[in-house]
Amino acid sequence: METFKGLWTSENKDGTFETSLSDIPTNVLIPDQVLVQVLYSSLNYKDALSSSGHRGITKNFPHIPGIDAAGIVINDPMGKFKPGSEVIITGFDLGMNAHGGLSEYVSVPPTWIIKLPKGLSLEKSMQIGTAGLTAGMAVLALQENGISPDQGPIVVSGATGGLGMCSILLLKYLGYQVIAITGKKELHGFLSSIGVDELIDREEFLAEKSKALYPTRFAGGIDTVGGDTFIKMLKSLKAGGSVAACGMASGVELTLQIYPFILRGTRILGIYSADSPLELKQKVWNKFSKEWDFPLDKIVKTITLDKAPKIMQSMLVGQTSGRYLVKTIF
Ligand SMILES: NC(=O)c1ccc[n+]([C@@H]2O[C@H](COP(=O)([O-])OP(=O)(O)OC[C@H]3O[C@@H](n4cnc5c(N)ncnc54)[C@H](OP(=O)(O)O)[C@@H]3O)[C@@H](O)[C@H]2O)c1
Repeated sequence: METFKGLWTSENKDGTFETSLSDIPTNVLIPDQVLVQVLYSSLNYKDALSSSGHRGITKNFPHIPGIDAAGIVINDPMGKFKPGSEVIITGFDLGMNAHGGLSEYVSVPPTWIIKLPKGLSLEKSMQIGTAGLTAGMAVLALQENGISPDQGPIVVSGATGGLGMCSILLLKYLGYQVIAITGKKELHGFLSSIGVDELIDREEFLAEKSKALYPTRFAGGIDTVGGDTFIKMLKSLKAGGSVAACGMASGVELTLQIYPFILRGTRILGIYSADSPLELKQKVWNKFSKEWDFPLDKIVKTITLDKAPKIMQSMLVGQTSGRYLVKTIF
């Protein structure tokens, strides 16, 4: 085999970037790493950034994007994984500064690899992907901070995104009431159909004049967008409430007063799935294989690799919804 199929992001002479399905030379694979044949990958916001040439995510191009991969071990020179083992790889440097999972093959260090837990298929693992894993970590963090379903509703922002929808499904499965904040009025009906109890339009949520504190409304939150939405969520929590801070689609700055923390005991729970210890990732994957066994079909669209570049462009401008499972074999 001299080449394999995969997405290839390259820089044009004028500084713009292009991502297309290409024949990639096998010499980009690193011989002393574990060689995995990828059967499924998925699309995440970070992939959209990487494939558009965002140097904060990927420094060097040409590059294969894809922060998620699930497949079969072909060869492990160090002998930790037997050929034929089914494995999941998410995060670490995959698809960022190491070639990623939106391709037929990937080579990775053994320390990035999780053995597929019993009860989970490779396909379902990538329906979940980094977005679902992060939702799992966020829900776990809320539970560990004492936020149980009887304390009141959980607010989820960026509700129609991959992370938002996975969070909603998991919270509903666990018996929480869910309030969703979304910028997409046209998807209110869909969000209700997957169990959302109350909907808030993003613009209306932000229209109110800024205050030091708002009336208490949410027991907890999962924020996927950052910026003013995150700040208002923090200022609207009941006493002892927590928000799991996951994303930044709307902004990275955080300017607020100390009041929510010293008057209501508000907590910010930082969630960073990419470089989390393998043990934490394994714990959450095990939960998905045993305890958190709910269908994701309603929120997942299955696509082939050639369709991914266009969808990632739409993702960058907030025009996609739900999860995209990518079949990588031809
Ligand atoms: N911390 C971690 O470990 C971790 C892991 C995975 C992802 N993330 C981050 O989480 C975020 C969501 O990831 P994803 O994969 O779910 O992305 P996604 O599928 O593209 O969803 C992002 C959602 O955010 C909302 N949004 C988009 N642009 C916005 C804007 N300008 N202002 C406010 N809201 C906007 C939209 O939802 P509505 O239209 O419904 O509002 C959109 O569907 C990203 O920032 C990503 O980098 C973090």
